[in-house]
Amino acid sequence: MSPPLKLLAPLDINGMVLPNRVVVPAMVTRLSGEDGVINDHIIDRYVRYAAGQVGLIVVEATAVHGAKSGPLLRLSDDSFIPGHRDLAQRIHDTSPSKVVPQIIHFMKVARSGWRQTIEDLDPPDIARIIEEFGLAALRVREAGYDGVELHSAHAYTLSSFLSRRNRRKDRYGGHTLEGRLALFGDVLAAVRRRVGADFPIGVRFLAEEAIKGGYALPEAQQIALRMAQLGVDYISLSVGGKFEDAEQRPGQPLYPYTGYSGDRCMPGDWYPDLPHVHLAAGIKTYLNQRGHDTPVISAGKIAQPDQAEGLLQSGQADLIGMARQLLADPDWTLKVMQGREDEITRCVYCNVCKDLDERFREVTCFLWPKGQLQAPDDQAIGSAPYWADAGAELSVSGQNGRIKLAWSAAEIETGGSDIAGYDIYRADAHGTVKCIEAVKGRRYVDRLAMAGQEYRYFVRAFDRNGRASPPSETIAITMTMPEDIMN
Ligand SMILES: Cc1cc2nc3c(=O)[nH]c(=O)nc-3n(C[C@H](O)[C@H](O)[C@H](O)COP(=O)(O)O)c2cc1C
Repeated sequence: MSPPLKLLAPLDINGMVLPNRVVVPAMVTRLSGEDGVINDHIIDRYVRYAAGQVGLIVVEATAVHGAKSGPLLRLSDDSFIPGHRDLAQRIHDTSPSKVVPQIIHFMKVARSGWRQTIEDLDPPDIARIIEEFGLAALRVREAGYDGVELHSAHAYTLSSFLSRRNRRKDRYGGHTLEGRLALFGDVLAAVRRRVGADFPIGVRFLAEEAIKGGYALPEAQQIALRMAQLGVDYISLSVGGKFEDAEQRPGQPLYPYTGYSGDRCMPGDWYPDLPHVHLAAGIKTYLNQRGHDTPVISAGKIAQPDQAEGLLQSGQADLIGMARQLLADPDWTLKVMQGREDEITRCVYCNVCKDLDERFREVTCFLWPKGQLQAPDDQAIGSAPYWADAGAELSVSGQNGRIKLAWSAAEIETGGSDIAGYDIYRADAHGTVKCIEAVKGRRYVDRLAMAGQEYRYFVRAFDRNGRASPPSETIAITMTMPEDIMN
């Protein structure tokens, strides 16, 4: 018998016992109205993660203050508590999953391109921010959540104070790391005063700013150390997502995920798997060597159960954060518990979810059936799709840097669930096989193949439950090298 997975082992965080090590980090859903109130769609979204047995569910960024911001949840006054109470209760009624909201303060951004910066804030503004965090955290506790997470990452207020680009000259800047840490310290103290010692407080901050002149791992290690010394109960890491390098789009408010730092925050399909795990490992080791065992959450293109387990076994992380993968398949944990890894619907990191977020549209997954607001149900019935006797009739042609593939439809058994799409696999001459894309139709153009190299392709159909067909036949092609390259 194989040893029990560390991924499925419980973890006690200041009295909040997570049933396993899987975390869905905060992900804005844009399912709330501009009123910022919890509605049924939001409840359905998060209860779905609980049904899928996610260990820790972090509810999307929720504003501590009343500023306008499009569809975003709020906890800026007591009238918002009942909605949050319903959400926490429904999650607790569903499974042993634990749930904490991520609370955020952000500054004003105008369509004209103007944005408020931390250098514009005067001492009363700062005092108000500290007070707003404390009061919102108290409302979190009153709503029945298991803990609270402070959003100190990306382009938002707390993160901008931690930034190496903080230009304030007072106690909250002063070109020193101590100055940059001061607001976080004040906010944490205010939150702790309000919620008490026994209520878990997590923090999300950047392991690397990924902007010109921004901080990188060595300073992130020191920031994490201070957070641990101040008594945060867990540390969740992210990367980038800053205004400093965001693209200005005429008539649109700046969206902090449009520049290079945005790519690093939500790395797309062209990035390798696990691009950020060394950062979490570097921070965890640094803390552990200094006597702190504050749990560290690693996130960023982690999708496969064996990779996740490997990170825990090798001590590179304490918890595994998966945002887009759990959006694609909220039943990931359940499937791992039941040995149904083959049925996981794999995220292809196409970032359609990110684009929807940017346009303030309801965030859904490209891999879900068209028009659905939530992931399809996990129906453990019916059998996997299959290819008819003639196979997939996979055809290939290639020129001008494009390799075109086409194939015929896979079949399903009566009672089986509909075909949701096709995974495209590519192997190079060295035999490295990779799933390079998922598509809903029966054609695909590979624009990332080089002339002179042999590539082999096969496709697999997958149904709405993530069940995949056997591989189609394999087809090989080598694009001819343009003569001008050879000369
Ligand atoms: C649609 C969308 C919304 C997000 N919203 C938040 C958020 O509210 N707070 C936050 O800290 N991170 C947010 N993120 C970042 C994710 O939590 C996560 O760090 C990032 O997607 C990388 O992890 P992944 O590769 O597992 O998706 C969001 C990501 C996406 C795709």
